[in-house]
Formats: sequence, C-alpha cells, structure tokens
Amino acid sequence: MDRATPPSSQPTTTPPVDVLLVEDNAADARFFGLLLESSPTAGNFRLRHAATLADGLAMLGARRPDVIVLDLGLGETEGLATVQRLVASGLRLPALVVLSGLDDEDVAVEALQGGAQDYLIKGQIDGRQLARAIRYAIGRHQAEQAIAERTTELEHSRELVRSLGARNARLLEEERRRVARELHDEMGQQLAALRMEIAVLRQGPAGAGHPAIDAALGMLIGRVEGLVVSVRRIVAELRPPALDGGLAAALDWLVSDFGRQTQLACRADVDACAGLLSADAAAMVFRIAQESLTNVRRHASASTVSLQLHRAGAGCELHVRDDGRGFDPSGRSAGFGILGMEERARALGGTLTIDSRAGQGTDIRLRLPFSEAAAPDRASEGRA
Ligand SMILES: Nc1ncnc2c1ncn2[C@@H]1O[C@H](COP(=O)(O)OP(=O)(O)OP(=O)(O)O)[C@@H](O)[C@H]1O
Ligand SMILES: [Mg+2]
Repeated sequence: MDRATPPSSQPTTTPPVDVLLVEDNAADARFFGLLLESSPTAGNFRLRHAATLADGLAMLGARRPDVIVLDLGLGETEGLATVQRLVASGLRLPALVVLSGLDDEDVAVEALQGGAQDYLIKGQIDGRQLARAIRYAIGRHQAEQAIAERTTELEHSRELVRSLGARNARLLEEERRRVARELHDEMGQQLAALRMEIAVLRQGPAGAGHPAIDAALGMLIGRVEGLVVSVRRIVAELRPPALDGGLAAALDWLVSDFGRQTQLACRADVDACAGLLSADAAAMVFRIAQESLTNVRRHASASTVSLQLHRAGAGCELHVRDDGRGFDPSGRSAGFGILGMEERARALGGTLTIDSRAGQGTDIRLRLPFSEAAAPDRASEGRA
C-alpha cells in the first residue's frame, strides 16, 4: 500500500517523510494511518505499508524510506528477534521506530540497544506524539550515523598514525646506523690523519726550537684526541658496538653499563632465543630495553632491576622489572619514551604491556612472535 496522508493546512516546502510501516495486523495498520493523518503535520508524511517482514525488506531494498515503523509481533517473528532479523538483512537501514503492544521496559531498552531509535506502545500515543516521535527518531538516527562515520574515520586515522609510527621506528634505526657508519668511517679516519699530520709537524723543523709552537701543536693533538673520543661516544650511542656482537652481548653490556652508572644491583638473564632474532629486531629490542632502563634511572628510585630475554612459545619475551616507586600507566604524563617503545613493538608485530602501580615497582614485557622477528635463515628454527 502506498498513500500520502492528506495535506495539512500549512504548505510544506521539504519533501514528505517516507514512512514504511511493517505491520501484519490490518486493523492496527489502518489505525496507524489514521493516527498519522490526525497529526497537525500530516501532510509531511508519505506512508507505505508492508504486511510481512519479507515484503518490508523488499520495499526497503527497492526504495529506502526515511523511517521504518516495525511491529514487534509479526506472527512470523516475535519480539526482539524481529529487530534482529531486520538488522541481519544487511540492508542499509534508515531510522527505526519499534511498535509494540507490550509496555515492557526491558524489551524497549534491548530494542534501542539493538538499533532502534524509539519504542512506541500501541494505543498510548496520539497523532501529534507519533509525528514527533518519527521526526525525533530520524534526527537521532542521523546523529548516530554521523558519529559512526566519525568513529570510522578516527579509527582509520589512528591506524594510519600507528603504522606511520612503526615505519618511523624502523627508519630511525636505519638512519642511526647510517649516520654512525659515516661518522665512524669519515670523521674517524679524517681525525686520525689530522692527528698524525700534526704529530709529524711537531717533530719536523717547524716545531724544532720553538717551544710556543711545540706547545700549540701539543694542544692541537690533545684537542683532536678529545674529538676522537667524542666521535666514538656519539657513534656508540647511535649504534652500540656491542650490537655487532649479537643481542645477548649488547644486553649484557647495557645492563652492566647501567649498573656502573647507577650503582644499582642489576641482573641480565638472556637465553639462546636472542640469537634467533633478525638484526632489525635485535636493534629494536635493544632500544626498548635501553629506554626501559633509562626510565628506571630517571623515574623509579629502584634498588634492584632485572632484565630477562627468554623464549616464550612461538616467540620470545623481554621482561624488565624494577622495584621502584611505580606509576599509573593509564594516566602517565605524556612522554615519548613509552610511545617509542610501543611503536617499536608494533613494528615487530609484537605487544608491549606495562604493569605498574604506585609503590609496586614496574614490570615491562615485550612479546615478539618469531614469525615476524626471526632472522630469515633462522625463521624455521624459531618456529620449531
Ligand atoms: N620504571 C618507571 N618507574 C616509575 N615511573 C615510570 C617508569 N617508567 C616510566 N615512568 C613514568 O611514565 C612517564 C612516561 O615515560 P616516558 O618514557 O614515556 O617519558 P619520559 O621518560 O618522561 O620522557 P622521555 O620522552 O624523555 O622518555 C614518566 O614520566 C614517568 O612518570
Ligand atoms: Mg623515558
């Protein structure tokens, strides 16, 4: 059935609201039409009627109405199952108003949670209220759609930021390695040559018999040697030489260096899984361990620290634990250290969990699957 309600006294400028009523009871359907016609804005509505859910779905598919008014008791399907069948049709739904003979608040709430925008009880509303309920349901539905679209956009851009972060973590590591190599090869060699040339100059006729020149050249050599030490330190920070000896050696070095600097009791316990990781993964794990220990030094006031890297299922796990003051990870102040750790973990297809509470110390676990983090030639060994 397709009929427009008679025009009201007020002329309308917007197209009529397309209402699809799904109601198996012919008398109820007729009454609904009369109710809508009795509303002061009756001319604003165009009513179509389907007597079964199947007909309703066919009419919905042919032309999407602005609102579906759905009787919950259709005979073929009852109660919330009616709403679920409509939602499960996979068709893009307009606003949905549920119509029921039952004044049941639980069903009403469940219908709203299931996708309806309103729940009306037959016989308890007049035409004005019905017209208003339809209008409000359409408005609510539009707002919900807008929120859903924004949420999808937000999730999409969040995912984009995440993968960008993971990519940046990788690029940063590559860039560090490249800069360290250039500094070491270029600057290191130039400085060594400079030092030799000054030494030659000092021993030659230019310096002979001129104490002032001799002293100046000696000072220059001292400066160059200072520069060599600085370059070595910068190179070591960019790319710890210990990493070239493998992850286990690098973590040992990191922990003993940490112990030396802080005078804290610190233990490293690393098993053979360290040797299974790719060079990329090893560098990332090292950086995560390094940031964890930096945080212990800066924030924890701990007295003991332990670092473990061991095999766990089809992957390995890095575990850094301190007995310091702890913190609330969900309410932590914005820092880039933990963010960088999370990005590196993600770049490796792993997960980072931080378990910490005020006064309870901090527990950081990085779990890496070998499928992502093992060296290609060791991958089969890692999965075994
Ligand atoms: N082991 C720890 N014990 C106590 N608090 C910690 C620990 N690790 C992190 N925190 C807390 O979490 C916050 C965030 O750490 P995060 O490493 O992200 O940033 P940050 O260390 O403050 O700065 P940066 O960006 O230089 O790393 C810290 O400021 C500190 O309050
Ligand atoms: Mg930090």
